[in-house]
Amino acid sequence: MSGFSIDWLTLREPYDLRARNPAVLDAVGAAFDTLASVQVVDLACGTGSTLRALGPHLPARQNWKLVDNDLGLLARATASPLAKHAAVAAIPLDLNRDLEAAFDGPVDLVTASALLDLVSETWLNRLAVEIAARSIPLYAALSYDGRIAFTPSDPFDAAITAAVNAHQRTDKGFGPALGPAAAAFAIARFESLGYSVAHGASDWTMGPDDIDIQSEILAGWASAAQDMAALSFADTAAWLKRRHAAVAAGRSSLHVGHVDFFATPSATR
Ligand SMILES: C[S@@+](CC[C@H](N)C(=O)[O-])C[C@H]1O[C@@H](n2cnc3c(N)ncnc32)[C@H](O)[C@@H]1O
Repeated sequence: MSGFSIDWLTLREPYDLRARNPAVLDAVGAAFDTLASVQVVDLACGTGSTLRALGPHLPARQNWKLVDNDLGLLARATASPLAKHAAVAAIPLDLNRDLEAAFDGPVDLVTASALLDLVSETWLNRLAVEIAARSIPLYAALSYDGRIAFTPSDPFDAAITAAVNAHQRTDKGFGPALGPAAAAFAIARFESLGYSVAHGASDWTMGPDDIDIQSEILAGWASAAQDMAALSFADTAAWLKRRHAAVAAGRSSLHVGHVDFFATPSATR
């Protein structure tokens, strides 16, 4: 499965949904509970998981602009079952090149999930300046923060984790990525622009029964470690073989750190 494939995004969605920080979701809902309707722009929407996760927390009348540069994902996102009153539009856009165009027209809320760890400091600054100029709040969920805990432990876990975190900082299409530093950087940046930020952990927890997703993640991490040439090919392959054996034996668990935040400007629209 590739990094942004429908199969991968579909596999991870229930884990993302379970991981989303409930206090942060409640804070988003509370910010809009006096409005009759809300206009949302979801950046890098994928198959529309943010719409499905956040929609029930927002006023019944919702207008979503789903933005992505992958036409297949956009088609899937707009075909998904929606809240009764939600109007959904697909906006094909390269967010690296044309970020500013995403905010054309009225916007009450900008959302993003599993995006900020892919972007560079420069791009995140651009996003912050752009939406602060319009006093728009931002809900940003599921930014990977570099923490991984493996059960059972393996002598190569630390080296693989270091390689994964180094790989996370390579260019994902937006310049050198912030990777594990993204959420902390973004929170500090929005606070410096006068925003109040509610934040909390949204960690993935996967137990022995979560076989498919653990298998995918472990294979992805082995591939990232190989790209970074952190360990020898033989050591990486041996690590993956031991990990897959633990998954198959029902002895494997994973804990993966993420952060959610909701940033609101001092004077909301
Ligand atoms: C990790 S996925 C997250 C998708 C979705 N937000 C979710 O939480 O399931 C990252 C998304 O970023 C999109 N993306 C990557 N580069 C992009 C770009 N330059 N412009 C617009 N979207 C981009 C991908 O197509 C993919 O949908």
